[in-house]
Amino acid sequence: MNDGFCIWFTGLSGAGKSTLAKLLEDSLLERGLRVEVLDGDAVRTNLSKGLGFSREDRETNLRRIAFVANLLSRNGVAVIAAAISPYQSIRDEVRGMVNNFVEVFINCPVEVCIERDPKGLYKKALSGELKHFTGIDDPFEPPLKPEVEIRTAEETPQESLNRLLLTLEILRLIPAMPGQGYSDEEAAVLQKRLKDLGYI
Ligand code: ADX
Repeated sequence: MNDGFCIWFTGLSGAGKSTLAKLLEDSLLERGLRVEVLDGDAVRTNLSKGLGFSREDRETNLRRIAFVANLLSRNGVAVIAAAISPYQSIRDEVRGMVNNFVEVFINCPVEVCIERDPKGLYKKALSGELKHFTGIDDPFEPPLKPEVEIRTAEETPQESLNRLLLTLEILRLIPAMPGQGYSDEEAAVLQKRLKDLGYI
């Protein structure tokens, strides 16, 4: 059986984590992998029901996601976790809880997230109706060494997806499928990044 792995998306609300998680899920399913998405919003309606958004509660939420990600990935499942995960220390901690952990920074300026505001939560946060909202009056620490950085305000979802898949191929977590929409130059850039960061 293939080893599983865990792609951990981190980024602001509205940055595009769930959108990319869905695209990646579909691609991995097409490639014949078993896949599970652990989305912050979904987890918070069941596994983490009752938790709020203090630092402590967020960390508890993320530890639970990592715990489940580990159970799944050690049984060969490709896990995609999509939660804000705002603190570097907890991201480092969950990396240590799961084998084959890949951190993906879904980077999008807060101004763009405010404009998108798919759930209307930024409006509430800006008016003061919602307190401790990440990016408004609660911190988001940008990742220091993510395997992948995706800039959703600057690239198309397909471009982002291609880079994600190529990175997983370079890390040998999924079989290589040449001719999937990227050039040798792009592959070399990703390879160099992963090497410079010490991941390969
Ligand atoms: S995390 O900080 O614990 O990683 P998680 O991804 O699970 O967060 O949940 C974030 C989602 O909860 C947001 O997309 C948004 O829909 C909702 N939410 C409600 N209140 C807040 C808040 N104060 N800060 C961030 N997100 C919030």
